[in-house]
Amino acid sequence: MSPNKMLLKKDLKEKRELVNIEVDRFLPRKDEYPKQIHKAIRHTLFAGGKRLRPYLLIHSYLLFGNEIRKTLLLAGAVEMLHSYTLIHDDLPEIDNDDYRRGKKACHVIYGPDIALLAGDALLVFAFDAICNAEIDEKMKLNFIRNMALESGHDGLIAGQMVDILSEGKKVEAKTLDYIHKNKTARLINLAIRMGCELAEASEEDLARMEKFGEKLGLAFQIVDDILDIEGDQRSLGKTVGKDKKMNKATYPAVYGLENSKKMAEKYITEARNLLAPYGEKAEILLLLCDFVLTRKF
Ligand code: IPE
Ligand code: IPE
Ligand code: MG
Ligand code: MG
Ligand code: MG
Repeated sequence: MSPNKMLLKKDLKEKRELVNIEVDRFLPRKDEYPKQIHKAIRHTLFAGGKRLRPYLLIHSYLLFGNEIRKTLLLAGAVEMLHSYTLIHDDLPEIDNDDYRRGKKACHVIYGPDIALLAGDALLVFAFDAICNAEIDEKMKLNFIRNMALESGHDGLIAGQMVDILSEGKKVEAKTLDYIHKNKTARLINLAIRMGCELAEASEEDLARMEKFGEKLGLAFQIVDDILDIEGDQRSLGKTVGKDKKMNKATYPAVYGLENSKKMAEKYITEARNLLAPYGEKAEILLLLCDFVLTRKF
C-alpha cells in the first residue's frame, strides 16, 4: 500500500472511531426498554460503514478550523440520517436488499416493521443530535433547517422517489442526474457545508466547497453504480448485480460502463481542482477524492 493510502486509511479509522464513540454515547443503550428498537438501530449503525459523510464534515471543517471536538456530534448526526436512508432503502418495498455493511439488513433480522421504525428513529435522532451539539443557537437552527431541506421531499426523498418511479424505464440523462444528485449528492454536500459553516468559512470558500461537494457527490453515486456491476459482494458488504436485475436508473445503464468510469474520473478531477487554493491543507481531502474513485467498498 502506498504511503498516501496508508495515511488515509489510518486517518479514516481514527476519525471513524471518534464519531462512533460520540454516537454510542448519544444513543440509548441497546437493552433500554423497548429493547428491540434500540437493538435494531444499533444493528445497522454499527454494522460497519465507511463514515464518509462524517469524515467529509470533519475535514471540511479542518480546512478552516481547528477544534475537531466541535464536529463530532454533528458528524454523528449526518451519519445517523444516512443510516436511516440505508435501512429504508433496503426494505422489501424499496430495493429489497438482504445485506448491508457486511451484515444481514435490518429488516432481515428484525422484520420490516421494526426496521421501518428503526429508520424513523435514526432520522429523528439526527435532528436531536444537532439540538444537543455545543454550538450557538443560530448555527443549530441553520443546520436543522439545512438538514431538513437536503433530506426532505425536495431533496434526498425526491431522489429516492424518482429512483423508484424510474425502475424498469428508460430514463433521460436529465432524470438520471436528478436522481443521483438528490438521493446521494445532497447529503454528501450537506456534510461538507456543515463543516465549513461550523468553521465560519468565508462566502467565497463556502461557494467553492459547495461546488466541490456537488462533483464529489455525483462521482460517489456513479462509482456506487459501477461497483454494483464490478464490485465484489464480500468487500462491498452489500449485494451486487441488483441494479441491472431491477432495471434501475444508473450511469452504466444510460452511458455504458466505460463512459461512466470516464465521467466519474472527470468529476473527481474537477473536485480535486477546486481544492487547489487550499494547498497542503487539503491533502486528506485530495486523497479522499482518489479513494471515492478507486474504492472497492
Ligand atoms: C451507500 O452509501 C448508499 C449510497 C448513497 C450510494 P455508502 O457507500 O457511503 O455506505 P456506507 O455508509 O459505507 O455503508
Ligand atoms: C441509495 O442508492 C441512496 C440512498 C440510500 C439515499 P442505492 O440504492 O444505489 O444505494 P445502495 O447501492 O443500496 O447502497
Ligand atoms: Mg436505492
Ligand atoms: Mg439500494
Ligand atoms: Mg447502489
